[in-house]
Order: sequence, then C-alpha cells, then structure tokens
Amino acid sequence: MASYLQIADDEKGYELDLFCVPRHYENDLERVIIPHGLIMDRTERLARDIMRDMGGHHIVALCVLKGGYKFFADLLDYIKALNQNSDQSVPLTVDFIRVKSYCNDKSTNSVKVIGGDELSSLSGKNVLIVEDIVETGRTMQTLLSLLSECKPKMVKVVSLLVKRTPRSSGYRPDYIGFEVPDAFLVGYALDYNEYFRDLSHICILNDQAKEKYKV
Ligand code: IMP
Ligand code: MG
Repeated sequence: MASYLQIADDEKGYELDLFCVPRHYENDLERVIIPHGLIMDRTERLARDIMRDMGGHHIVALCVLKGGYKFFADLLDYIKALNQNSDQSVPLTVDFIRVKSYCNDKSTNSVKVIGGDELSSLSGKNVLIVEDIVETGRTMQTLLSLLSECKPKMVKVVSLLVKRTPRSSGYRPDYIGFEVPDAFLVGYALDYNEYFRDLSHICILNDQAKEKYKV
C-alpha cells in the first residue's frame, strides 16, 4: 500500500491572509489547505520513491492535462535532479494527453482522452502516469485499460491527491502525495471551470465562488 500524507476531515488549514493569494481570488476561497512549499517537499520524496522502483529502465512520463501540469513539471525536476546527481541514471521522455470528465464541481460518466503520441510508442517502456487528483477513480481506470493494450513493460500511476469519498470505485494509485477530505479543491493547476490554475497553494473553494464561476 502506498504511503501518503493524510489531511484530516477536520483539518482547518490556514487563513488566506497568512499567504500570498492573487487579489482576484481573495473572495472565492475558504482556506489554504496545502501550502505550495509542502506540495514541493512531498513531491521531492515521491520522486525518490519512483526512481527506486522504476529507475532501472527508460521511463516515459505521461502527463494528464490540464490539471496535472504543475505537479508533472515539479516532479520531473526532482527526478532529473536525482538522475544528474547519482551514479546511475535512466533516459526520461515525456508525453501529454488530455482527459475531460468534469462539469462544474461534478464528475460526469463519460471520460474522453485527447492527444498524445501513438500509444504504440509506449510498448516495452516503463510508463509513469502523472495525475493531479483521483476522485471516483474512473478517469484513471479508463486510461489504464487503454494503455494495457499497447503492452508497456511497466505502468505506475502517481497522483498528487486522492480524495476520501464514498464515490470512490476503490481504485488507488501506486504513489500518492496527499489523501484529502471530500471537498472541492483548487490551485496548483487544479481548476474550477478553468479558473484557479493560477494559484500556487491548494485551497478549498467557497460556495459563493461555485455560483460565480458556474457554466
Ligand atoms: P475521477 O475520474 O472521478 O477520479 O476524477 C478525476 C478528475 O476529476 C481529476 O483528474 C480532476 O481533473 C477532476 N477533479 C476531481 N476532484 C477535483 C477537485 O476537487 N478539484 C479539481 N478537479 C477535480
Ligand atoms: Mg486530472
């Protein structure tokens, strides 16, 4: 079982005023729940765990856009640092796909995969799927079944966040940064209808903002 940093249901987080939050979002957020620095520290350790298990062979890191882009970039920087500062190293190549399953703050049943190279290029490789958050697990399960058709040597999934929710299918990623309460989270590339990706900390959205940015 993957170890993770657990954020409790009654975690109060931090007052917005204690951190730097863009002016345009000041009235939309409840609290800061995971400050940017803590995300970075946890990501550094995930990089080490991943290299321990996958570092023996060419790794293809597959970023699930758009929500995964910040975590992907920071995680790869830490993996690169390990690669260039130790006696052993492996080539790391990247690919990007887009998956869309959300409308407002609700997961929908249809999961669409867009973009990326030919999946056949993953054949025989160690594939690391990098995702922002797993909620029901449906997105990841759909992606995994697609990938298994192209016969990679190994597939591992790292998700920065996993939500504790009764809507979960029971799916758990191989590596988890944080387990979070069942609330809608934004920031660090996680969005609400495309807003809040330009916020460094992971925060809880308030109800007023859910109305304000509704489509
Ligand atoms: P799942 O298929 O239900 O596991 O949902 C996964 C996708 O839904 C994630 O990749 C996110 O893009 C999105 N998602 C789920 N929960 C949140 C959230 O709290 N904030 C922002 N996006 C979320
Ligand atoms: Mg995502």
